[in-house]
Amino acid sequence: MDNIIFIDNISFKYGERQIYKDFSLKVDKGDFLSIIGPNGSGKSTLIRILLGLYVATGKITVCGLEMNGKNVREIMKKVGVVLENPDDQFVAETVMHDIAFSLENLRVPAKEIRSKVFEVAKYLGIEDILDKEPHSISGGQKQLVALACALVTDPEILILDEAFSMIDIDTRDKIYDILKDLNVNKNITIINVTHDEEDLLHGNKILILNEGQIVKYGLNKEVLSDEKAFTKYNLKLPFMVDLSTKLKYYGLVDDIILDMDEMVDLLWK
Ligand SMILES: Nc1ncnc2c1ncn2[C@@H]1O[C@H](COP(=O)(O)OP(=O)(O)OP(=O)(O)O)[C@@H](O)[C@H]1O
Ligand SMILES: [Mg+2]
Repeated sequence: MDNIIFIDNISFKYGERQIYKDFSLKVDKGDFLSIIGPNGSGKSTLIRILLGLYVATGKITVCGLEMNGKNVREIMKKVGVVLENPDDQFVAETVMHDIAFSLENLRVPAKEIRSKVFEVAKYLGIEDILDKEPHSISGGQKQLVALACALVTDPEILILDEAFSMIDIDTRDKIYDILKDLNVNKNITIINVTHDEEDLLHGNKILILNEGQIVKYGLNKEVLSDEKAFTKYNLKLPFMVDLSTKLKYYGLVDDIILDMDEMVDLLWK
């Protein structure tokens, strides 16, 4: 399997404070990886290192390019990002111009920018707010606009850091349907940093991070079957996994259940 991201033995400090020491991680192309961990475990620091915002010692390769001063611009063309507070990412007077911004920076011809912006807006169902002022729209719409800004350059990797923590459940479901489509049908590798355990059911792999170290990393089922890895760091299991773990304990099911339809079937039997 291709490693789209390869972090090889990196170390990083804030001043005297060591956050990462000899840390390595490989992410396969096409994965939808959820990263969870206690507050301060280093999740956002890792994302900022991956985005070239902080420089760590060691080697990082993204999409086959080694992260360094020379390549960072080229790498960032392949990466779309949505961070926690979308307001910080808006710079223009209209939603349309905000979405167009990164393409303008890449000197894409105006006509192409227009059609690309409309294509992304249509895909995300936000065509009707393109003329609005970005700070005037609702929280859910802001998250969708931030996602549009990240997607307009056709990234190979989409990185999300607590990107959807402030939105209503309906928009959240809609966004996860979109992420699934991007991952499965457009082959975009997704890294989703979250503190909401329910989000863990959406991807195919999970990484639990604590104090700059990997506690557990693997396929969803493998990680979610390790209840202790969660409780040890005061993390919760998704509701369905928690319930099926208890049912398993009492011998009522053979294995944990990750699929809602499967759980409903079982409970109605
Ligand atoms: N700019 C900074 N200068 C100094 N220390 C920092 C800085 N940013 C973060 N830290 C510290 O580094 C550690 C890791 O922080 P980081 O933001 O990466 O954690 P996190 O896992 O994203 O946490 P959260 O779940 O709260 O978002 C924390 O102890 C934090 O206080
Ligand atoms: Mg963080």
